Amino acid sequence: MGKSSSLVLNKVSEQFPAPFKKSFYFLPISLSLITLLFIFIYDITTTVDVTHNLPQTDPYLLDRSLPTDNIPFDQNSENGDDLVADPSRLSASARANKWLGNLFGISNGNYTNNIEAYHDEDIFLEDYKQMNKSLKIYVYPYPQDHPFKQVFEPFESDPVGNFASEHYFKKALMKSHFITEDPDEADFFYMPFSIALIRDDHRLDIAGISVFVKSYIQNITNIYPYWNRTGGADHFYFACHSKGRFAFDKAFVAKLNVIQLLCSSNLYISSYVAHKDAPVPQVWPRLDAPPIPNLLTRERKQLGFFSGGINSRTRVYLLKVWDNDTEIFTHHGRLPTPYSEQLLGSKFCIHARGYEVNSARIADAIYYGCVPVILSNHYDLPFTDILNWKSFSVIVNERDIPILKRILQGISSEEYAMLQSNVIKVRKHFQWHTPPTDFDALHMSLYELWQRRSVVKVKS
Ligand SMILES: *[C@@H]1O[C@H](CO)[C@@H](O)[C@H](O)[C@H]1NC(C)=O
Ligand SMILES: *[C@@H]1O[C@H](CO)[C@@H](O)[C@H](O)[C@H]1NC(C)=O
Ligand SMILES: *[C@@H]1O[C@H](CO)[C@@H](O)[C@H](O)[C@H]1NC(C)=O
Ligand SMILES: *[C@@H]1O[C@H](CO)[C@@H](O)[C@H](O)[C@H]1NC(C)=O
Ligand SMILES: *[C@@H]1O[C@H](CO)[C@@H](O)[C@H](O)[C@H]1NC(C)=O
Repeated sequence: MGKSSSLVLNKVSEQFPAPFKKSFYFLPISLSLITLLFIFIYDITTTVDVTHNLPQTDPYLLDRSLPTDNIPFDQNSENGDDLVADPSRLSASARANKWLGNLFGISNGNYTNNIEAYHDEDIFLEDYKQMNKSLKIYVYPYPQDHPFKQVFEPFESDPVGNFASEHYFKKALMKSHFITEDPDEADFFYMPFSIALIRDDHRLDIAGISVFVKSYIQNITNIYPYWNRTGGADHFYFACHSKGRFAFDKAFVAKLNVIQLLCSSNLYISSYVAHKDAPVPQVWPRLDAPPIPNLLTRERKQLGFFSGGINSRTRVYLLKVWDNDTEIFTHHGRLPTPYSEQLLGSKFCIHARGYEVNSARIADAIYYGCVPVILSNHYDLPFTDILNWKSFSVIVNERDIPILKRILQGISSEEYAMLQSNVIKVRKHFQWHTPPTDFDALHMSLYELWQRRSVVKVKS
């Protein structure tokens, strides 16, 4: 090393006159000093922002199995009164402006696609057609005298309420052309147990969920050859009940391999694995929206709307800041006016996380043509690998609740029209039908499955 560099120096001194020799050292040294200075400045100007956006505790140290309702806020304070973010870190106008820059793709001077409802609509449509033609699903049968038969049966009546998606999925799937009786032609194997119904069965209850699922998997493993070929990697189930997080607590291989279609797609719980599992929407079936043209032309006098139980720090914070505001209407308890009137009369409908990251509020907003505002950090949003959420919703860090009004007011009427027209465009993906219809929530959920196919099946 020393030899070769002195050789180079000798060569240089031979070829160049003395003044150059000085600058030979001066240039690199001054350059490196300037670089160090830049790094230093960069460090100072960016550190504040980075720490601001990240959880206060190292996320890798968090126990991912705990409900992590407290992540967005100050982790160091024990008393519950620290909900208002540190004002010294909150230069409101700067943050609102930055947010708007992000929405319209001008962050760091680079254009990003925040206008189109899909990441790539052409590819999606092409692939969807393939899925629609080829996808085949085998549903594991269950004995008619099974003591927990109701856990496997599709609903007779129309599903309602918070877990309707879970029941609709099975009901619609069974009526679809994706079902095959021949396991040899199946791409996927469906385990038709319902977490919500296990949860409701007093013989099983929450503690029984993981015991039941373990026993179920043992049984299909013993009776059929399909599980053992892939370790369950071409097996799936669907759950909208948040207690689905306990399903595989006693089934380790299932936890690693089975594809879960889940409403509670929280990136900070160990039972949800992004990219392996797929996020699906929680939908409370509603039927009373006016036709689409009326949704668009309707006068929406109220800026923002939230209503719901106060069961999380996010919601406490939201009400603490915006309770009694004249433009953002927040409410807990029973609404004095019909819910649909609020959703139809507001420009923005707020989804603030509750016990879990998800709720039916996003699908409600979309159904009534209201642009959803998502205050739920670490929520892996439904169909997010297909849909471009920034084009039809407003995603706000929970910490930014104090500047929420400024963010919403900063959205011009042209920008709002763009967001709302995309809400209408994606609306069909957030609805269930029996029998299912093209591009509805069933087809989209199955498309998510389709993206996770092609496991080589080793025959035993
Ligand atoms: C902007 O885009 C160009 C080309 O895609 C890329 O090379 C560059 O790194 C981007 N800059 C930023 C700040 O993202
Ligand atoms: C999907 O398949 C069904 C049944 O074969 C068919 O009626 C429908 O037109 C197909 N949709 C698309 C988009 O290919
Ligand atoms: C598994 O099989 C056993 C024996 O037939 C039965 O008692 C049990 O209920 C089955 N478990 C499930 C979850 O189906
Ligand atoms: C699948 O593998 C398990 C464990 O290795 C074994 O007990 C079971 O009998 C196998 N199932 C079939 C159908 O061969
Ligand atoms: C909202 O108004 C009610 C009733 O006047 C009052 O009790 C409450 O403290 C107010 N909330 C805020 C955040 O000002």
